[in-house]
Amino acid sequence: MTVGVIGSGTMGSGIAQLAATANHEVKLFDANQSALENSKQKLEKLMARLVEKGKYSEEEAKEIQGRISYVGSLDDFSDCGIVIEAIIEDLGIKSKVFAELESVVSGDCIIASNTSSLSITSLAASISDSNRFIGIHFFNPAPLMKLVEVIPAIQTDSKVLEETKSLIASWGKVVVQVKDTPGFIVNKVARPFYGEALRIYEEGIADPATIDWAMKELGGFRMGPFELMDFIGNDVNYAVTESVFKAFYYDGRYKPAFAQKRLAEAGYLGRKSGRGYYNYAEGAEMPKPNTDKAFGQKILDRILLMLINEAADTLHLGIATAKDIDLAMTNGVNYPKGLLAWANEIGIEKVVKGLDELFDEYHEERYRCSPALRKLSKFEI
Ligand SMILES: NC(=O)c1ccc[n+]([C@@H]2O[C@H](COP(=O)([O-])OP(=O)(O)OC[C@H]3O[C@@H](n4cnc5c(N)ncnc54)[C@H](O)[C@@H]3O)[C@@H](O)[C@H]2O)c1
Repeated sequence: MTVGVIGSGTMGSGIAQLAATANHEVKLFDANQSALENSKQKLEKLMARLVEKGKYSEEEAKEIQGRISYVGSLDDFSDCGIVIEAIIEDLGIKSKVFAELESVVSGDCIIASNTSSLSITSLAASISDSNRFIGIHFFNPAPLMKLVEVIPAIQTDSKVLEETKSLIASWGKVVVQVKDTPGFIVNKVARPFYGEALRIYEEGIADPATIDWAMKELGGFRMGPFELMDFIGNDVNYAVTESVFKAFYYDGRYKPAFAQKRLAEAGYLGRKSGRGYYNYAEGAEMPKPNTDKAFGQKILDRILLMLINEAADTLHLGIATAKDIDLAMTNGVNYPKGLLAWANEIGIEKVVKGLDELFDEYHEERYRCSPALRKLSKFEI
């Protein structure tokens, strides 16, 4: 089956490479000719590196690259069995592209979007046969990240859903199915990792270095929240939080933090600007954490409780199954354990008690315990 990809930026290029590696003929289109050329050159360099490393033979690398055609118009997509869009995150622009695409492709071509934050249902409504529309959310870099969230719109035909899931699984991915809800699984459930860490910092309980240390050393997370926000970019991470906050009708659980907003305003974006929560200038000394174990454990417990609560609520609202919620967090953001399995390990009663204590202290909706936690004595995963 020929795979069409629209947009040859970071995500589109990765998806094209992934599909070509899975033996598909791929057509890659971008409205900007130089973005297409850029994508081709980047792939050449990457493939040369992978050949050097012994991942592919020269011949295999050539074959993979040879399967991608860089095309100058959507008209070239007429023989595609599926088209995945990865252009600018703008509902109006995406909708226009989908309407144009629908007039070119055959009636049974699946039309998909890689959007991170737009409603799949509203995108599906931009074409006349909305039943063939679906969300396929890859993570960056698409060829390497194991997780793919597949999001049916309310209009999506069940056959289209099943075909999409098995196609993406055949590309070696861990596929999870998600209801069309803002942030899907990962970008929703991960919010407290940043939000609660920021809250602890804003209240002056601990500094970024100590919070990062606690999450890594005691929690087993690969990166601490502040390191990770600096890595993602404080502008980008703030924008995702704000978009989830707005999309959930200003639910206090997702409230963005002024500490991060100010950093973004100052241009302290993180690694990419040389300064964020930390200073990345050459020779700059990294602040030392307070490595008191009991204190660190309190920090870890508070953030973890909030993560578990978010995962439990995601289950409670039927957004995904317990299994998929845990798979999403371990494969999409490399959490050391699935959050629901972690809750089982800690003991649900203890989790509920911890959340109720936070609620008693703050009386904020943000700390209210999910009904799923009160109802269940153990998550079936
Ligand atoms: N970057 C990520 O980590 C990430 C992860 C998952 C999903 N996404 C989503 O993937 C999509 C693309 O993100 P990206 O980071 O690859 O962006 P990007 O800016 O790297 O690339 C977007 C490309 O789309 C092209 N484009 C813009 N308008 C177009 C049009 N009308 N027709 C054809 N091409 C057009 C641009 O020229 C550009 O090359 C967005 O919807 C984003 O939300 C991004």
